[in-house]
Amino acid sequence: MDELRVGLSYNDVLLIPRRSRVESRRSVDTSTRLTKSIKLGIPLIPANMDTVTESRMAIAIAREGGIGIIHRFMSVEGEVSEVQRVKRSGAYIIENPYSIGKDATVEEARELSEKNGVSGLLVVDKSNKLLGILSDRDMRFSRNDGEKVSKVMTPRQKLVVGRPGISMDDALDLLDKHRLEKLPLVDRNGIVAGLITSKDIYRRLKSEKSAVDKKGRLLVGASIGTKGDYVERAQALADAEADIIVLDVAHGHAESVIDAIKSVKKKLPDMPLVAGNIATPEAVEDLASAGADCLKIGIGPGTACITRRVTGAGMPQFTAVADCAEAARRMGISTIADGGIKESGDITKALAAGADAVMMGSIFAGTDESPGYFIRRDNMKYKAYRGMASLGANISRKRIDKSVVDPQEVFDIVPEGVESSVPYRGSVKEIVYQLIGGVRSGMSYCGASSLDELRKNARFIRLTNSAASESYEKLAER
Ligand code: XMP
Repeated sequence: MDELRVGLSYNDVLLIPRRSRVESRRSVDTSTRLTKSIKLGIPLIPANMDTVTESRMAIAIAREGGIGIIHRFMSVEGEVSEVQRVKRSGAYIIENPYSIGKDATVEEARELSEKNGVSGLLVVDKSNKLLGILSDRDMRFSRNDGEKVSKVMTPRQKLVVGRPGISMDDALDLLDKHRLEKLPLVDRNGIVAGLITSKDIYRRLKSEKSAVDKKGRLLVGASIGTKGDYVERAQALADAEADIIVLDVAHGHAESVIDAIKSVKKKLPDMPLVAGNIATPEAVEDLASAGADCLKIGIGPGTACITRRVTGAGMPQFTAVADCAEAARRMGISTIADGGIKESGDITKALAAGADAVMMGSIFAGTDESPGYFIRRDNMKYKAYRGMASLGANISRKRIDKSVVDPQEVFDIVPEGVESSVPYRGSVKEIVYQLIGGVRSGMSYCGASSLDELRKNARFIRLTNSAASESYEKLAER
């Protein structure tokens, strides 16, 4: 056997402090390029897992300057609708507002707005001509669910409207002057051309740090697999204007993945494509040559992963990131360090080792915005978190296609992930503030005012067992 290499994880190394010209943490720039066309203000990506990222998480992280990747463990329509929710929420002009016909009932209107998470609906005729607005209040105060929408809506003649292409300033003036919540945009013939809500426009003004596309809408990614209708799924997500697609399987260095990258790239040559997960430079070369623009690095470091124990395969995460990032840079593509991040210091180490961004599951699973449910234990709050190769996640996946799952199919599953819970951590905003604060400080210890400088300046030292306990064994918080 060839001499065995040593593989290191984040806890095995520290960044050596260096002479610094950085005056304050605030002057440190954490922006990063995920692909040639996607720039982020912060290098943080909540994982594409069903207890981590749906539209609510994606909206919250994009507002902070990162990007969320919608998980793929739902129908194509479901994933498309999650992408659309993100795209609608950040824009100050909603291009295709939800609408309903005047003869629909209040109950139908309520269902439609609840399903899509909106507070009101435009009322239109068959040619999409504006007839009125049905607000949240109109629906709430209607005593009769069977009442027609036309009876409770505010009719067109009482509405203030704008023209398509209205400037942000003019829209603000109209909203302010008439104390409006919603400003429908209609063309000369009265046909609906968009909607501006005061909530979106004010949020947009307040949040200059949001990660947005060319039209000013929040960035969002969506994931696909490599089986069945994955190319059609990719096309549907592209049609919904997802900004990036993540082709995500447990073992990415596989011929099926290489073929899938080629198929997706052939169909959607301009769509930025992330592929993974992988852990070696050989895999970087193969997947980059197939057309991937960015690669996800990590085989088995995740907190809900038992791949290494079940299969005996994996790669210590710090070594995997350092090796793969170097190979990726040679190939002109970027990397995401995925899994195993427990605290902000790990993020700094991953970025210093060469990653362009980090993906995190367990940390984001504990926030208000994750889809997981709350659990109360010993007077403490937790949120559900499960590996996507866990038994429960496997069964849920089978249930997407059929309502009854054959017990034999359940018996055949060999899980490589666990179903667990993580402590509740508050909002994404609060968590990101703490994480990025730690990263900025770590960068200043390395004398780096940008991520490029961090990668250039970084010098690591390897820890002995006693140095590791000196670093990590601290007094417990009371
Ligand atoms: P963290 O440590 O941030 O890791 O919770 C999130 C990453 O873990 C990966 N993942 C899995 N890996 N079995 C695995 O071996 C699983 O069931 C599983 N589910 C998620 C994934 O890369 C994710 O981003």
